[in-house]
Amino acid sequence: MTCSPRGLSTLFLAVLPWIVSFPSALAAQPSAPAPISAPLRALEFGQLNFLHTTDTHGWLAGHLEEPSYSADWGDYVSFATRMREKAEAQGQDLLVIDTGDRVEGNGLYDSSEPKGIFLSEILRHQHIDVITSGNHELYKQNTSEAEFLSTVPNFRGKYLASNIDISHPETNELVPLAPRFKKFTTKKQGIRIVAFGFLFDFTGNYNNTVVQPVEKTIKEDWFQEAIRDKEVDLFLVAGHVPAHSPEYWAIFEEIRRIRWDTPIQFFGGHEHIRDYAKYDSKAFALASGRFMETIGFTSIDGLSTGDQSSAASSPVFKRRYIDNNLYSFYHHTGLDEESFPTENGLNVSQLITESRSALRLDHVHGCVPRTLWTSRVPYPNPNSVFTWLQTRVLPDSLKDESRGEVPSVAILNTGAMRFDIFKGEFTQDTIWTISPFTNSFRYVKDVPYEKVQLIMEVLNKQPKVLETLESGSKLSPLPCPENLARAAYFTTEVVEEDLETQPVYNIAGSHQAPLSVDRLDEKILPGYTTKDDAGTDGDDTVHSPISFYEVPNCIQALLSADKSGVPETVDLIYIEFIQPHLAMAAKFASLDVDFFKDSEVYMPSTTLTDLLLAWVKKHWKCE
Ligand SMILES: *[C@@H]1O[C@H](CO)[C@@H](O)[C@H](O)[C@H]1NC(C)=O
Ligand SMILES: *[C@@H]1O[C@H](CO)[C@@H](O)[C@H](O)[C@H]1NC(C)=O
Ligand SMILES: *[C@@H]1O[C@H](CO)[C@@H](O)[C@H](O)[C@H]1NC(C)=O
Repeated sequence: MTCSPRGLSTLFLAVLPWIVSFPSALAAQPSAPAPISAPLRALEFGQLNFLHTTDTHGWLAGHLEEPSYSADWGDYVSFATRMREKAEAQGQDLLVIDTGDRVEGNGLYDSSEPKGIFLSEILRHQHIDVITSGNHELYKQNTSEAEFLSTVPNFRGKYLASNIDISHPETNELVPLAPRFKKFTTKKQGIRIVAFGFLFDFTGNYNNTVVQPVEKTIKEDWFQEAIRDKEVDLFLVAGHVPAHSPEYWAIFEEIRRIRWDTPIQFFGGHEHIRDYAKYDSKAFALASGRFMETIGFTSIDGLSTGDQSSAASSPVFKRRYIDNNLYSFYHHTGLDEESFPTENGLNVSQLITESRSALRLDHVHGCVPRTLWTSRVPYPNPNSVFTWLQTRVLPDSLKDESRGEVPSVAILNTGAMRFDIFKGEFTQDTIWTISPFTNSFRYVKDVPYEKVQLIMEVLNKQPKVLETLESGSKLSPLPCPENLARAAYFTTEVVEEDLETQPVYNIAGSHQAPLSVDRLDEKILPGYTTKDDAGTDGDDTVHSPISFYEVPNCIQALLSADKSGVPETVDLIYIEFIQPHLAMAAKFASLDVDFFKDSEVYMPSTTLTDLLLAWVKKHWKCE
């Protein structure tokens, strides 16, 4: 649930007028911006091709404020169809994969009652060949049951759950969420595939589901039998598992113990990054970002096909990260506005428009005077979402009348804010994308101010300190997946030393790949510049790099009635989600408070989302 945004995605809207050079492209959502032409790297098709999405978190309408990611799920339906037609016309195959976290994080999912009824209808129209569950499908009983009762049947024969069981909603019997694995043969090439669908070793699920550790699952008989099948040309491991991870390493090693030579294609996610991992010369893993920003593409050539053994040959693996916009889609299919859309795709776009309209997601609550960033500016900064929260929203709004004039400090995890806030209209959609969670506030009385400062220090130790201290607990990481991934894989590079003492991350790496651009007249815009195990040429669109600033795990705001100085003791107010983390940190700060017993609700029936919305309505009125 703690999943903070990185502003990774964003183009400056202010520069739009001089870069739009593809006027006829119409994104399917009426309020989406037109995509922008940019130099593109080609897709290299092979015998077997894949399209992959992951961590879409409800963003099936695409990004309505960012041209680079403005295609919607209907456009993707058309794209997958046209790509399949193209592959099959060449005697090749194409498979479509989704690796979970389809839910939570966008009004199209979160704002319906019950949640997800519109999303589920939209999603099912994509032809997906292998689909798996993420961790977000399992946080709440309602969510996992909806998965079991709707999504699994909608994708019958495609949904795989190698290590997830669910307590059956009617019989309470523990049953597999979906089949453990499947074997199938591709249509054109006759490639024999054994496919699995995993979730990483997740422990934060509600108790109606059981996630068995990957390392234990691969010792089970069914898995051992599946990897001993000799009639296999490719193992396909889809999962909500990071591309570089101990879980995938364990699966790789287990398969290699039995099948030293069979190619393996992994698809993964969870970290919200573009990533490609090489396990050996015949085993690779692709991760395809987040929030419908990226359509991952891989191809494999040189596979054996059924009876025609090519054991001696060495397969060639390729990968691309496609920016999710119509300009890229037209380019890669060689089609245009007329020839690209399929009837099914157009229907799905129409369904999205109708759903957004029914949910009133375009309803305007206010007008944002200037863009506020989560991680594209340092913290503190006048353009930081967190500075805005700390200095404006919380002091203006967080007040429980029953506490009178008692001074207080509020602590919030930065992961509670999921996305940047763009200059312009602040809609019903905006509130759900920045704050989709239903967390309310709690507080404890009479906490010495200096102890609060110690607690903050512990909470902000980078990045997994608390989890290491409390091994075996169910404490979720405070930093968002992007932050954890960045800390784990990317070298820190100070690119703008003069700005602040905080480190600046440039995940691009220092060298751009040689540009094999198709059109030289296009502008190079800021965006993803991915560096992975295959080099720096993975992104389909050639971008200039974007810098990111590290933000603390948590921020605090002093809400004192008396501005004359620091109070001795305060009400310590916090967002419910971080209660276990606070309890841990308090131990280290020698604060003798039982957060589970001694805390009370602050501002009953008020969530962070409610506060934000009320503040925006009051302070950001449209002219
Ligand atoms: C679960 O869904 C039902 C039916 O929509 C709803 O009444 C209930 O409040 C939901 N429970 C939770 C915990 O969200
Ligand atoms: C699951 O958790 C609920 C509390 O949320 C509890 O009432 C129930 O007994 C638990 N069930 C099991 C099987 O542990
Ligand atoms: C698209 O929608 C129209 C109108 O509802 C319907 O008649 C048609 O069958 C749909 N086409 C597809 C491919 O679903």
